[in-house]
Amino acid sequence: MVLTVLLLVLLAGLAGSSPPPEPVVCARGMADCTVSNAFGSFLDRTICRAANATFPRTEKELVAAVAAAAAAKRKVKVATKHSHSFPKLACPGGRDGTIISTERLNRVASVDVAKGLMTVESGMVLRDLIQAAAAKGLALPHSPYWSGLTIGGLLATGAHGSSLKGKGGAVHEYVVGMRIVTPAPASQGFAVVRELCADHPDLDAAKVSLGVLGVVSQVTLALQPMFKRSVTFVTRDDSDMAEKAARWGDLHEFGDMAWLPQLHKVIYREDDRVTIKTVGDGLNDHLGFRSNPTAPLISSRVTMELLEKNINAVARCKAANATVSLFETAAYGFTNNGSLFTGYPVVGFQHKIQASGACIGSQEDALLTSCAWDPRIQGTFFYTNAYSIALSKVPAFVADMQELRDRCPLSFCGIDTSGGMLIRYVKASSAYLGKPEDSIDFDIAYYRSYTKGEPNPHYEVLDELQQMALRKYNAIPHWGKNRNFAFEGAMAKHPKAGKFLEVKRRYDPDGIFSSEWSDQVLGINGSPAIFEKRCAIEGLCICSDDSHCAPEEGYYCLPGKVYTDARVCSFQPAF
Ligand SMILES: Cc1cc2nc3c(=O)[nH]c(=O)nc-3n(C[C@H](O)[C@H](O)[C@H](O)COP(=O)(O)OP(=O)(O)OC[C@H]3O[C@@H](n4cnc5c(N)ncnc54)[C@H](O)[C@@H]3O)c2cc1C
Ligand SMILES: *[C@@H]1O[C@H](CO)[C@@H](O)[C@H](O)[C@H]1NC(C)=O
Ligand SMILES: *[C@@H]1O[C@H](CO)[C@@H](O)[C@H](O)[C@H]1NC(C)=O
Ligand SMILES: *[C@@H]1O[C@H](CO)[C@@H](O)[C@H](O)[C@H]1NC(C)=O
Repeated sequence: MVLTVLLLVLLAGLAGSSPPPEPVVCARGMADCTVSNAFGSFLDRTICRAANATFPRTEKELVAAVAAAAAAKRKVKVATKHSHSFPKLACPGGRDGTIISTERLNRVASVDVAKGLMTVESGMVLRDLIQAAAAKGLALPHSPYWSGLTIGGLLATGAHGSSLKGKGGAVHEYVVGMRIVTPAPASQGFAVVRELCADHPDLDAAKVSLGVLGVVSQVTLALQPMFKRSVTFVTRDDSDMAEKAARWGDLHEFGDMAWLPQLHKVIYREDDRVTIKTVGDGLNDHLGFRSNPTAPLISSRVTMELLEKNINAVARCKAANATVSLFETAAYGFTNNGSLFTGYPVVGFQHKIQASGACIGSQEDALLTSCAWDPRIQGTFFYTNAYSIALSKVPAFVADMQELRDRCPLSFCGIDTSGGMLIRYVKASSAYLGKPEDSIDFDIAYYRSYTKGEPNPHYEVLDELQQMALRKYNAIPHWGKNRNFAFEGAMAKHPKAGKFLEVKRRYDPDGIFSSEWSDQVLGINGSPAIFEKRCAIEGLCICSDDSHCAPEEGYYCLPGKVYTDARVCSFQPAF
């Protein structure tokens, strides 16, 4: 079993890793550029074009770059060092847009240890930020689990870890200041730096901005004295999951859950702050975020493609079972002392537990090893759907999901394969594009074909699940994940959307930071859904006609099984 081979190699652990490819590539010096993401492809499989790119090293150079674009009224977007968002947020609008990369804006500007404040440049990668804070005895209390993101990029999409305690699990709750460069009239030199302090009302717009207000230059974070956590993963039956989900976030500060639907199990993360004197120097080096040797990556992808195309789903589920067992045995990559797992709880310092991202380590090894999704390898290629549902509605949603699972259990194996549906807690936010209510974020990653429009017998239930969440339970999509159709009507789910748009008009009246995509998502112009042949297979649309599926291959647009208002591409075998 190739998957098993891959995992065994993963368990062995590897030191080197080719860093991910550059998202911004220019053909002639700094001109004639393309922009992509870490996966080499945005949702609609486009690679974006930009007339040129700049890589400012200082705020002064950043102001000059914005001024040049504003003076010429040229479209502009910010790109980051690795660019990990799935939607094409980083594509500049128009035909001759420009890119401002934050790759070289990656330093610590200042630290005030006594006040627990750290100011960093916006292109700083989370991994470096966490280390720099730890070196001063400080900790960012919550963060995404993957450390290859930049602070500017992760804030722009409202990224989060999991918590209902204190200010909650989203990083933007810890932002107490920002410096943002916006266009300005000619009399002010075409660009200005706006300093937003903790009590500035516009901070609620700038904290989660989708990159449409201007370029964030610096971010000031309110950190905490370094602390330790104690982590235990417990796998239990999923029969009382609906009720547990509503309460788990109150029981554990860093609690989350991973649902393994086909196995009828839930992996509960019991994760709490402990006193700094507690013995332990644990490390989270998550298996999925380590670097992988190329050969097994490619062969496991080949196996997966065969399994996905096979209408007999049992083999696919067997592989899922094997993967789940291996991850459990390997404690998901956690160790008690940085090299060996000897049992739960794993106790360790916050900066070694909160996030991981070994595969972005910078040693170049000519692609012998890389992140699993490195597009140069053609290994893992996946969709990720993530959306938040208000806590009060969660038990009903979970019950509906379980009913759908009971109708078609084998179709859920793809979720088990990727470690389960991750269930995380996010608190209500004052950020205009943050969560309006205390919520649970449901997150799945699953197989995506390299072939555009290739149907999959298991997408039917996954599409029903997402439509049910978004339409029946009014779920809010994660701005940096999902597929096109999920963003339809997203702004209407944010009561303070109007306030956000007011700030946008004030900061960028000519809309140079806007693109076709951001205008569609913000409801300013057009719709993020794309209607064309097989669009529903790609998640570009919700089908309303068989041609949006693949009738030639037996896939027709039909109602969902549990949420009958859903319209999904259903496989109807000819007999
Ligand atoms: C493996 C993986 C794991 C993930 N884990 C999590 C998780 O645990 N929790 C979670 O919530 N999310 C998670 N995400 C999603 C991720 O947090 C978001 O997609 C995030 O926005 C990506 O950050 P980035 O630095 O790559 O930014 P990009 O994707 O490059 O940019 C995102 C947006 O921000 C804008 N932007 C970037 N910098 C600036 C700036 N300085 N000023 C103005 N605009 C700017 C860009 O123009 C773009 O519009 C994960 C993604 C991956 C691939
Ligand atoms: C970028 O490209 C545009 C459009 O082709 C051009 O007008 C501008 O001068 C270029 N800017 C730089 C800095 O090269
Ligand atoms: C996967 O494991 C579960 C629980 O051990 C078992 O009930 C199920 O039959 C297994 N599925 C396959 C396809 O082997
Ligand atoms: C971790 O613990 C194991 C077993 O006690 C020991 O062999 C190993 O050397 C330790 N590693 C570190 C980095 O301390």
